Amino acid sequence: MNVENKPKIVNVGILGFGTVGQGTWKHLEENSQFWEKILGVQVKPKRASVRSIQKERKIKIAENALTTDSESIVNDPDIDLICELIGGIEEAKELTLRAFENGKSVVTANKALICEHGEELFEAAEKAGVHYGFEASVAGGIPIIKVLRESMVANEFPLIYGILNGTSNYILTRMESEGVSFEDVLKDARELGYVEADEALDLDGVDAAHKAVILAYLAHGIWVNLDDITVEGIRRISIEDLQAARKLGCKIKLIGVIRRNFKNDHISVGVYPALVPIAEIIARTDGVYNGISLTGSVVGTVVLTGRGAGQDPTAGSVISDVVDVVKAQNGISAGIKLRHVSPEECKPAKPVEIGGSFYIRLTVDDKPGQLAKVADCLAEHQVSLATVSQSPQSGSPTASIILTTHETNEHSINLAIQSLEQLHGVNEKPVLFRVFDPNLTPKE
Ligand SMILES: NC(=O)c1ccc[n+]([C@@H]2O[C@H](COP(=O)([O-])OP(=O)(O)OC[C@H]3O[C@@H](n4cnc5c(N)ncnc54)[C@H](OP(=O)(O)O)[C@@H]3O)[C@@H](O)[C@H]2O)c1
Repeated sequence: MNVENKPKIVNVGILGFGTVGQGTWKHLEENSQFWEKILGVQVKPKRASVRSIQKERKIKIAENALTTDSESIVNDPDIDLICELIGGIEEAKELTLRAFENGKSVVTANKALICEHGEELFEAAEKAGVHYGFEASVAGGIPIIKVLRESMVANEFPLIYGILNGTSNYILTRMESEGVSFEDVLKDARELGYVEADEALDLDGVDAAHKAVILAYLAHGIWVNLDDITVEGIRRISIEDLQAARKLGCKIKLIGVIRRNFKNDHISVGVYPALVPIAEIIARTDGVYNGISLTGSVVGTVVLTGRGAGQDPTAGSVISDVVDVVKAQNGISAGIKLRHVSPEECKPAKPVEIGGSFYIRLTVDDKPGQLAKVADCLAEHQVSLATVSQSPQSGSPTASIILTTHETNEHSINLAIQSLEQLHGVNEKPVLFRVFDPNLTPKE
């Protein structure tokens, strides 16, 4: 490749090399060829800032790439794009504004900063003609911002509600399912690193409230003041409350709720524990998962659930914003190129390579030994039975046999069904369904 054809390089500066910063660096670097393939531009993490250089870190980077001087990254003319992942408010705000002044776009996961100063920061970014991405600031790995701003743009939103804090959801889920006290689960959550250093953010609903304020802005264009809304946490919920809610067909969840009455143009935003009917997907969103239900005037209700925090999911959302900025800056307007692979890189699986378990219903002669013949026929094709039930069909000399199999593959089951069709005593074409298993591991 001659020098003129060399792809352009976009250098990324990462402020904060903690959980999300290291994840972002790792995934930018590991997938560098992929970014180049889909964007036609190289995207490279170049420098990162920390408070303490001495701290041991899982992701190792060149010594001279790490600094305690975040300003030097924001002012570095070789850095094109900044990821602000230090958290906190004042310093993060100063650095973001400085980056804008220097003509650099910024991507952030900092919900506290956006909730507090979003209006000023969005205006500053617009004035500077740069981008400010914040997908990772609400619900970590769930692409809620893009869905609200882009995919559901045709809608008005009378109701948005959901679980916006994974730590409190983890605590409530374990209290409810295991009957463990709030204090004991909190102890485990601390040990697992789920609880923020400032515990009030998770336990008193403040973190969820930051996100609810951002969602309210995105859906309705209004910055609601955090001090003006109801914000309650989970500290007063007892196991007795959770059990009583169950008897009422509900689960108690800490939810953020944004309601808009389009008749009188009122909006209400709040975060509080509430009894949510078990029929709602949000009630069944457990553990560290987040879930957001969006009721749109055009589409009806859409529910998104997934990991609302953690290194990889959050880094994934940061990178999605990085890709958007690179696209916008490089005039890639018609969406990124499709991931085109050659037939050598990815081939359709053969039936023998497609695993799974199956449900079979047979109508057979109601005679002794018929079930054994069926089992032998399946065994000939290496299909083994997991469950069997047989019931006579009233007023008829036939019986119905319902079988499920252990894991086998499409090739074996097809041969087994062909043999069953020929088997003496099997009266109708067998009914075959796949048993769906989301955790099925692909065959080697
Ligand atoms: N963790 C998650 O799952 C998650 C999910 C969604 C959003 N977020 C948001 O993402 C942001 C980062 O969170 P995190 O979990 O990655 O935090 P973290 O693990 O505490 O990392 C923060 C990093 O920033 C560095 N830092 C802090 N203040 C600094 C300063 N003044 N100058 C230079 N470096 C500084 C720290 O340096 P040292 O390492 O030397 O202390 C650390 O490397 C926060 O806004 C958070 O709310 C996090």
